[in-house]
Amino acid sequence: MPLNRARILLIVGGGIAAYKSLDLVRRLRERGASVRAVMTSASAQFVTPLSMASLTGNQVHDDLFSLTDEAQMGHIELSRDADLIIIAPATADLLAKVAQGLANDLASTLLLATDTKVLAAPSMNLRMWLHPATQRNVAQLKTDGVAFVGPDDGEMACGEYGPGRMAEPLAIVAAALELLKAPTKLPLPAGLKRAPGPLTGHRVLVTSGPTHEPIDPVRYIANRSSGKQGHAIALAAAQAGAEVVLVSGPVSIPDPEGVQTLHVETARDMLAAVESALPADIFISTAAVADWRPAEVAASKVKKTATGSVPSFAMTENPDILASIAHRQVGRPKLVVGFAAETGNVLTYAQDKLARKACDLIVANDVSLESDVAGGVMGGSQNKVHLISSDGVETWPILDKDEVARRLVARCAELLMSPNLKAAP
Ligand SMILES: Cc1cc2nc3c(=O)[nH]c(=O)nc-3n(C[C@H](O)[C@H](O)[C@H](O)COP(=O)(O)O)c2cc1C
Repeated sequence: MPLNRARILLIVGGGIAAYKSLDLVRRLRERGASVRAVMTSASAQFVTPLSMASLTGNQVHDDLFSLTDEAQMGHIELSRDADLIIIAPATADLLAKVAQGLANDLASTLLLATDTKVLAAPSMNLRMWLHPATQRNVAQLKTDGVAFVGPDDGEMACGEYGPGRMAEPLAIVAAALELLKAPTKLPLPAGLKRAPGPLTGHRVLVTSGPTHEPIDPVRYIANRSSGKQGHAIALAAAQAGAEVVLVSGPVSIPDPEGVQTLHVETARDMLAAVESALPADIFISTAAVADWRPAEVAASKVKKTATGSVPSFAMTENPDILASIAHRQVGRPKLVVGFAAETGNVLTYAQDKLARKACDLIVANDVSLESDVAGGVMGGSQNKVHLISSDGVETWPILDKDEVARRLVARCAELLMSPNLKAAP
């Protein structure tokens, strides 16, 4: 995931380097990341929650037992609703607490309850850092999957010289960027079971959102897909007990909870991610994949000319992800579901797509502005869909996308059990 869409939860410990966490917020935000901060009570001795709130543009959380916070965004949600957690400065005390699994304030409770990757930037006096207890804690945290940046060598506030200075904000940003390249949601811990559901024991692969097809380093061709429907389907499948992989184009909504989300930009990236995530029992292709892309991507920004001549771009066809998965001779998911977003002749096009793409089911919707869904389907929270299969057409009423997702997942679970389901095209 690029930094400009990342949601960072910053945990600020009570160390002398806490002032640098203000600069870290600035560096993250100028790169487009959104930042929420949690401050330990000791950190408020070094920087004020007001400065942190002003720089993050968000309320600062510091109290585990805050009725208001718990009502607005509970501590569990706060711990999970982030793409990356950064502890900066990570004090000796915080490292010890997390290594031991203590949870006696908001910061340590969040760190124990999270399913998100953690990056720690330690900062302390060099004797504290070199103390065997701290080194034991750091080794334990590394084993537990916590990533570290720094500490650097340098002159301490106390006058000594050696390791213990917090890494510079830009080095922390670089380490965050590196971590965000891979999925940052941790797998379910062994022994943690989901409530059983109709899809327990099955693997579901979902695509969602638009794709971005670059023209030059700053421009791309995209569409209005928000990812709301695809993400809702991935979440509903996880809630139905499935192991779910979501391949998402660029969207501004959070990754669904309990779902492994792979972030991609282009149609070709999406196909590669889908193929890497196979095998699956069910493939639901919700993404609005660009049909074409510019044949050549300019290496530098295409400039206006003095004569006012307008550039023209040759286009080339993108891979057809749905058809390529549905036509697989080996490893075809048992159930392949496609979406058909049309602006006219919805049913005719969808029936044609069902046959052409060798799907088991097409979910068709009218995404024209004239559709009877208030506010439109693309980007909106409601949808009106028709289910098209070899059995015929079934039209559902206007429903919230979450409800469409739940019903569709329930239908997929039924179809998966159906003896008539074909295993290959
Ligand atoms: C002036 C001063 C500076 C401190 N600097 C650090 C520091 O850089 N690193 C550290 O681990 N602890 C430092 N401490 C100790 C922590 O503030 C103390 O362990 C506190 O309990 C940490 O709480 P927290 O981990 O909940 O933020 C400092 C204490 C004082 C009084």
